[in-house]
Amino acid sequence: MNSINSSKNFNIIVLIGYMGSGKSSVGKKLAKKLDISFIDLDQAIEKKYNKTVSNIFSDLGEIEFRKIEKKILIKILDYKSNFVLSLGGGTPCYSNNMDLINSKTKNTFYLKVPIQKLSKRLYSRKDKRPIISHIKSVEEMNNFLAKHLFERYPFYEKSNFVIDSKRDDTIEVVNKIIYTLNNNSL
Ligand code: S3P
Repeated sequence: MNSINSSKNFNIIVLIGYMGSGKSSVGKKLAKKLDISFIDLDQAIEKKYNKTVSNIFSDLGEIEFRKIEKKILIKILDYKSNFVLSLGGGTPCYSNNMDLINSKTKNTFYLKVPIQKLSKRLYSRKDKRPIISHIKSVEEMNNFLAKHLFERYPFYEKSNFVIDSKRDDTIEVVNKIIYTLNNNSL
């Protein structure tokens, strides 16, 4: 367990970032180090609806998924406990979700990973992600991500902190977040 300055309100820590940026692996390790709970928004949705995210997309469509995502996000943000929450890559970009999150916590971290790293990683893991499952090559993935990230940056950048990551540096990212929490009074 890591010691953090208990005089501050660290109740909710939110991890934001594109698909494949390491939100879940960082979130798990961060929560463990801080000795608080870890919640993965996609997993919470899958558990509640007893369906994978891919199946929700294919059975109900993306708009319905976004409504479900919002509903579960509201519920989680009302928990009266300490936790690290990893969002889905699209969560910040819909339905004023960033304004809602920023009204609940100042501890929002955007994990920023270079596009080339994301493309390679996501290409080999695209099947579970309905937004990119149609992509046919790493090059196509790269082009898709460049455009998609351009659209999403304005939402991601509503986070209070940006953490640059190389993607395989989970421990380093966790330590940077803890350092930021302990050295900023927002
Ligand atoms: C999405 C990202 C996914 C999941 C869904 C949509 C997106 O989460 O919520 O497939 O729009 O970027 P991860 O970022 O955990 O892959």
